[in-house]
Formats: sequence, C-alpha cells, structure tokens
Amino acid sequence: TFMNEIMDLRALENKLKDALSITDVIVVPGNSDDHEWVKQEMGKACVASLKNMVGEHPTIAVTGGTTMAAIAAAMTPFEQSNEALFLPARGGIGEKVENQANTIAAEMARKAHGDYRLLYVPDPLSESAYQMIIQEPSVKETLQQIKTATVVMHGIGDALTMAYRRKTTADIVEKLRKHQAVSEAFGYYFDKKGNVVHKVRTVGIQLEDLGKVPFVVTVAGGRSKAQAIASYFKRATTNLLITDEAAAEEILKGI
Ligand code: BG6
Repeated sequence: TFMNEIMDLRALENKLKDALSITDVIVVPGNSDDHEWVKQEMGKACVASLKNMVGEHPTIAVTGGTTMAAIAAAMTPFEQSNEALFLPARGGIGEKVENQANTIAAEMARKAHGDYRLLYVPDPLSESAYQMIIQEPSVKETLQQIKTATVVMHGIGDALTMAYRRKTTADIVEKLRKHQAVSEAFGYYFDKKGNVVHKVRTVGIQLEDLGKVPFVVTVAGGRSKAQAIASYFKRATTNLLITDEAAAEEILKGI
C-alpha cells in the first residue's frame, strides 16, 4: 500500500543516515537510471529543502550534471524579499553546455527570479593560464562569492562514466583505471576508500573549502551510482543527501 511504501522509504532514510553518517537524507521512490521522472522527483525535493534551508539573500553555488539540470527544471520563484544569487561552483570541467554549471546556475536564477554570475574559464586549464585568470578582477570577485556561498549543491558521478562524458584523454582514463577510481564530484575523482586519485584543474570550490560551507546539499541517485555515492562519503560529508530508492538499497547491500 501507499502507507507501507512511505514507511519503507523512511526506514531507508534512517539506515542511510547511520551508514553514511549524514544528518539528513531524503529518499524518493524508484530508480533514476530507468525513469527520468525519478530525477525530477529528486529535483522537486531539493527545491523544497532549499527554500526551508536558506535565509535572506542566499548565495547558492551549483555544479554541473543532469541531476543538477533536473533541479533547475524544478526551480520556482523564491519570495520577493529573498532574492538568491546563483553561481557555478567550479569553472568548466569538460561537460556539454547543457550540463555545465554555468548554464545550470543561469537557468536556476531565471526560474527563481534571482541573479547569477558566471565563470568563463578555458577548459582544460594550464597552470600558467590558471595563475593569470585568478588575478582577473571580475574572476576574483566571483571566486570570492563562490568561496563564501551559503549553499553548495552538487552531484556525484560514476568515475569512468564522467571521464568518458568529459572526453578525458586516454592517459588520464588509464590513470583512473590504474587507481581504481569509483566516484567523481567537483572534478575530483575518488577510489573506493575515498582517496583523491585525480583532480581536474579549474577555479572555484576546492574539496577543502566544503567544510566551511554552511549548507552542502548532495543530489545523486540511480542504482548504477551506489558505489560512487558510498565512495564519495568515505572522504567528504554533506548536510543533506537526496537520493533514490534503488541507490539507497544498493548502498546498504554493500555495507
Ligand atoms: C558533473 C559534476 O557536472 O555532474 C559532478 O561536476 C557530478 O560533480 C556529475 O559528478 C553528475 O552528473 P549527473 O549527470 O549524473 O547528474
């Protein structure tokens, strides 16, 4: 019955909180690998939580990905007195334009009736170009806003899926295979134990900045991402994880 289904989801949420040591977990029904509407449900849950979480004039930094795009699709206006500023969490890291953090931040702002800033960073970025770019006044200002964001919302990907999607060079793919990369988030690749095995060079939020962010929201679902989610939380933490039933069940099986 419907009530049993709800009770099962609440039980999954509680088990995941314990297993991954996360304060807040939301599990939506279904498997987003198979059905697009499951991703949309995660998007809606995320928008609702976001509005409860933020105070006045929040600064919200977002990563790229199809899950973040589903959140943008579900976004609705914030209260008038509460204009939000949306920012990309990191510079370009090889995604198609519709999956880029810049595109998603702008779309969220449009739907929330908020404002946005973008980061124009070539990708991939050489060390010398990186050093020059972070000195540019406009980039500097946006980076400052990103580093003091009230909320960071991000996805988690399966390592090799993300590497291929980003058209990563063969030598890097080889490196990821050799070090058995399992997950990816913010352009960082992690192994099963949560060690960073590779990092895409770009500006914006670094892993060590996350601890200072008042609210981190992680949204990732689909049975295929279970190992990736478990691996990422060996290293990092979040204030709220939004996932789906299939990922939750699979993570708990592996623990
Ligand atoms: C990327 C983010 O753009 O999307 C990553 O930078 C994340 O942090 C990935 O791992 C997830 O993508 P998707 O499409 O599975 O939501």
